[in-house]
Amino acid sequence: MCGIIGYAGSREPVGIVLEALSRLEYRGYDSSGVAYFGSDGKVSVARASGKLSRLSEALQGTTGIPDVAIGHIRWATHGAPTEENAHPHRSGPIVLVHNGIIENERALRRELVGQGYVFSSETDTEVLAHLILRAYREEGDLSQAVRKGLASVEGSYALAVLCEEAPGQLVAVRKGAPLILGEASGEYFVASDVPAFLKWTRRVMPLPPEVVATLSPEGLSLCRLSDGQPVPAVFEEVPWDPVQAEKGHYRHFMEKEIFEGPRAIMDTLEGRLGEENSRVFLPELVRLGPNPTEIVFVACGTSYHAALLGRLMIEALSPVPVRVEIASEFRYRPLRFRKGAWVVGISQSGETADTLGALEVARREGYLTVGVTNVGGSSITRETEAVLLTRAGPEIGVASTKAFIAQVTLVWLLALYLGRRESSEVRDSLGLLVRSPARLEGFLGAIVPAEIDRMSRQILEARFVIFIGRGVDYPLAIEGALKMKEITYRPADGYPGGELKHGPIALVEPGVLVVAPLVDSRLRPKETSNIREIEARGGTVLTIGPAGSGPEDLVPSFLLPETSGWDGVFFASAVLQLLAYRAAFLAGNDVDQPRNLAKSVTVE
Ligand code: G6P
Repeated sequence: MCGIIGYAGSREPVGIVLEALSRLEYRGYDSSGVAYFGSDGKVSVARASGKLSRLSEALQGTTGIPDVAIGHIRWATHGAPTEENAHPHRSGPIVLVHNGIIENERALRRELVGQGYVFSSETDTEVLAHLILRAYREEGDLSQAVRKGLASVEGSYALAVLCEEAPGQLVAVRKGAPLILGEASGEYFVASDVPAFLKWTRRVMPLPPEVVATLSPEGLSLCRLSDGQPVPAVFEEVPWDPVQAEKGHYRHFMEKEIFEGPRAIMDTLEGRLGEENSRVFLPELVRLGPNPTEIVFVACGTSYHAALLGRLMIEALSPVPVRVEIASEFRYRPLRFRKGAWVVGISQSGETADTLGALEVARREGYLTVGVTNVGGSSITRETEAVLLTRAGPEIGVASTKAFIAQVTLVWLLALYLGRRESSEVRDSLGLLVRSPARLEGFLGAIVPAEIDRMSRQILEARFVIFIGRGVDYPLAIEGALKMKEITYRPADGYPGGELKHGPIALVEPGVLVVAPLVDSRLRPKETSNIREIEARGGTVLTIGPAGSGPEDLVPSFLLPETSGWDGVFFASAVLQLLAYRAAFLAGNDVDQPRNLAKSVTVE
């Protein structure tokens, strides 16, 4: 939710800030703005509602002097996505950008209005600008003013603050929302996520919570928010290849990321398989002690669907029972899991507020927690006892694709890790997983785009699309429906195949399309009955499966390679992702930035 960038260095800053914002657009895109020092020594603020391109057009040819600058891209929480509500917000010389939610905004606003502060927006952020100005008038120092100004603030924030009276200084601080520092020679960056400045540096440091960073072209200093005590800065090289964060020859990030699925599997397996791929090593889990008595997955959205697949995999290969919980509902029930259970949060971004909240409660209740995330250094990595990184590389498209593939790889690995090494099922399954990247690569390379488009057009023409599946095809079905909703905005829903007769079948009539992945070979006869029931009522069915998976006299609408286990999940996911991608593209939608969504949801 919302993206922040701050720059301190000796180059023209407006172009740098705009370019960085373009790499944060996945976090929100309903308005944007920048603040920079002009040659007159004053801070100029430019803001625009709508996509970033509107701000870039308005700022064409504009330059700031080499100094500090900040930028913001917004996903509205308080106040409509208008120019007035766009960041940066200003109070006298104080200019700032914010990501997060101030929970006691009303009380603070009342207090400030009573003291004569005038508000020009409906945002909670403007409260922060006035509070910091009030403190600056007393302290005369920007870093101290930020510390003092935030003392009465409740909620979550990531802030980057400038002061017209203090050129050459940019102050950043975070609590609850992410901020990452970047260091290059003679330049410093602060941003909500690494890809923002990956083009200029790979030396990064996640800003610890409640630590105030002061960036200037000359250097960086850190101190504690509570008492101003110095904190050391420790930067590390991130392994991300900047090219991964570029579109390359693809039209959209989503398309590119679907085709990066095989690499996501390969990188997630890297270093985790023993000699000759004989066993799975997850040394990250060793510190947790013996295997869990139970696994409780918590996650949201696509990550929740990966967890559902994880349950099937772990229960099939190991004796460990598994539950899967929607993170946003987790906190409102007593937690009565077995003693020795692990609560495993799956989150691509590692920043989803509901997942972090669920893990926090679990930890408080004495359960061991594990974070499965694609972003090293994200909040989840600091708030769990063990971290398993998926290694899909930066995922920019809002609809998750390769990150889902990497999550499935990881839960599959976890199932193998918890399974009995000597069992032939575990050995065979490991062999299948190891061969998956190459098989998926071959499959993706052989896909005929016209075949996908033919089905995508059928989807667009349908009044309603129902995705059904049993066994592993059920998580695939609801993930397929989610992808479809997210980027095509077409009515779609996913159900367990067996539930069709308990309600959704009433919707079936000519014009209704049913999409059925058919990967789970054990349940094919039952899925076949469901398909027959739909056809008998005038609905059209698109099946996605290997030869022989559909009703006897039918070839699947989209043919998958032969599968003997869960590798079919990768093939079917790729097809479902491509179907949504092409349907959204053919419908003329903004594929990478679907309306109303954001990639990283840091609000509850
Ligand atoms: C948002 C995104 C989804 C994602 C979900 C969970 O809603 O639009 O694509 O699946 O958040 O995100 P996480 O980063 O926790 O996996």
